[in-house]
Amino acid sequence: MKKLILALLIIPIVLALVNCSKVSTPQSERDHFVDSLMSKMTMDEKIGQLTLYTSDWSVTGPTLNPNYEKDVKSGKCGNIFNALTVKYITKLQKIAVEETRLGIPLLFGYDVIHGYKTTFPIPLAEACTWDMDIIEKSAHYSAMEASASGLNWTFSPMVDIARDPRWGRIAEGSGEDTYLGCLIAAAKVHGYQGKNLDDPFTIAACVKHYAAYGAPQAGRDYSTVDMSDRVLRETYLPSYKAAVDAGVATVMCSFNELNGVPATANEYLMNKILREEWGFKGFVVTDYTGIPEMIKHGYSVDEKQAGELALSAGTDMDMQGGVFSKYLKKSLEEGKINKKQINMSVRRILNLKYELGLFKNPYLYLDEKREQETVFSKEIMDHALLSAKKSIVLLKNEPFKGQKLLPMSKTVKNIAIIGPLADNQEDMLGTWYGAGDKTKVTTLINGLKNKFPQANIQYAKGADFEGNDKSGFDAAINIANKSDIVICAIGENDGQSGEAGSRSDIGLPGVQQELMEELVKTGKPIIAVVLAGRPLTIEWLTKNVNAILFAGHLGTRSGDAIAEVLCGDYNPSAKLVITFPRSVGQIPIFYASKNTGRPFEANNRFTSKYLDIANEPLFPFGYGLSYTQFEYSNLKLNTKTIHDSDTLKITVTLKNTGQFDGEEIAQLYIRDLIGSVTRPVKELKGFNKVFLKAGEQKEIEFAITAKDLRFYDVNMQFKSEPGQFKVFVGGNSVDLIEDGFELL
Ligand code: NOJ
Repeated sequence: MKKLILALLIIPIVLALVNCSKVSTPQSERDHFVDSLMSKMTMDEKIGQLTLYTSDWSVTGPTLNPNYEKDVKSGKCGNIFNALTVKYITKLQKIAVEETRLGIPLLFGYDVIHGYKTTFPIPLAEACTWDMDIIEKSAHYSAMEASASGLNWTFSPMVDIARDPRWGRIAEGSGEDTYLGCLIAAAKVHGYQGKNLDDPFTIAACVKHYAAYGAPQAGRDYSTVDMSDRVLRETYLPSYKAAVDAGVATVMCSFNELNGVPATANEYLMNKILREEWGFKGFVVTDYTGIPEMIKHGYSVDEKQAGELALSAGTDMDMQGGVFSKYLKKSLEEGKINKKQINMSVRRILNLKYELGLFKNPYLYLDEKREQETVFSKEIMDHALLSAKKSIVLLKNEPFKGQKLLPMSKTVKNIAIIGPLADNQEDMLGTWYGAGDKTKVTTLINGLKNKFPQANIQYAKGADFEGNDKSGFDAAINIANKSDIVICAIGENDGQSGEAGSRSDIGLPGVQQELMEELVKTGKPIIAVVLAGRPLTIEWLTKNVNAILFAGHLGTRSGDAIAEVLCGDYNPSAKLVITFPRSVGQIPIFYASKNTGRPFEANNRFTSKYLDIANEPLFPFGYGLSYTQFEYSNLKLNTKTIHDSDTLKITVTLKNTGQFDGEEIAQLYIRDLIGSVTRPVKELKGFNKVFLKAGEQKEIEFAITAKDLRFYDVNMQFKSEPGQFKVFVGGNSVDLIEDGFELL
């Protein structure tokens, strides 16, 4: 009863603070409110706002604090993550609002990475759509479902550029290219946050992992990152900046050290670049236990010092470290940090709570009826299918006995479906699917049954993802022998990529390679559907099966999407956003490399090459086939010289010369031939996704200005340099037609 009376007294104080503002602009209303609230807060309450603990519902690391509910009640913890469902979140929010002195509502964060309940393709797969509308909508629908379940903050998008497929978290990003990565970063922020953060259907985004987490040495997760400032600024930082420019509310700093300083206490990254140069106004949260981990990094003597270093460098919120909570007050008393620093961080966090509308209505996101209506709604499930089919890349489609295997004939009689992903729900969801529900996933078998109702479909698992067990081979060979066509659903399970999912051998795991060798011996036509969180080294497969689809991991509608592509109801249009190496020894391999002083010459030993393998990748960046063919011709530039303020117009004729209607992603690359520092042999500068009916042709246009030609020159000035440039247009980063121009 006492609590209820207290709550009745406190809620009006908070609400009155919201309403009493006489200031007209929303920002000053917010500032006025936050000023007023902060003037009432004790230091302990302030430090509580800088603290984020996981609930024990769903964790990605050690649960350090089993007393989080008690800490919420005492004001020691102002933010919770990994708490799910309206019911449970309401319980926690009530404690914060009704049982603490000032009734400050909690933020509820979660890894809504590729969907909340309805799971969309893993980010690496969805990036292969090159479709900003699809990508933004996936983020929008993720926000709709997550907010309907009570969440108001997602730890997404992950925008770490990555060029080493051994690194398991490559699955969570948008691949190797900075230009594309920036567009996707912005699309996701817009999708999650919408126009207004206080719209109950949107959530705050958190761009991560700042910075350069995608470049760990040897591709081993959490490992050291050491790189030049030029590479950092040119390749790795722009995607975080794109998210900041798109208005991202929060930033997560990364686990790794960068050039000797852990990102969690990296003053250069946070205070200098993020805040001073980019003008970021939101707050920075650490990654999971990032602060105490600085002791093991060899950067702080103890937790107290780690907290001081983190706060001083620009980190505002301690995720799961419990360090701010334990030591910040003492550090303040000792003069190691000052009140101004704490106040600044508290203000940033309260600002977001205000902007999310939580002070006006702490229960804004908590409506059980809405939760039931939204989660797995038809509209969201339909989008999951659209996104999934648009994410599938056709890598190979060769004829078998004079006939192309794909699309499959709808009258095929006997289909053998083999492999550990054929009748599998959970692994189809892909890495860190969070709250995703495997029971809602369409398996590939069920997808095929829907599309080929008349066919006799036989299934054998054949092999697993791990171990040496070949006891399933015979059954698989047996059904293959009886079939007209063999579909193999092979690759990685959901745990073989993602966080802590690095691999040194990125071939087909377990005995799947041996299984494929046996199946090829049957002489039957084989389609391999490769599902994985990263590019795999599948050179043998590429040479020996007739057709290959790379599908990443596609989420809830996996089986439906793959079946639509197999039967030709959808003509594949996706293109790789990451280079496929032939072998691990070629890594790092990416299209935007440098030429070197001794570029490859076949007959000259002393050029840049391997003795035992080709320089070329298995499949290049931007690669992907269609059931139809596209032809590029008539590349024209409106001028051969441009000045700083001119726009170069590039046109090309694109013709669908095949038998099917289809979509093509036409790509524009440039090369700056001579610079004050050397430039990559190709840089993506634009693309155009075009739908053409069979036989149709269109003139497509790209534009380039001097701004697009800027880079960090020898003095680290970001500018373009006069000189000669090449322009390339085509359907991938290798097969291109070219021309040139000069920047005067
Ligand atoms: C650690 C991961 O690196 C990060 O991406 C994630 O958001 C947090 N755990 C919270 O689950």
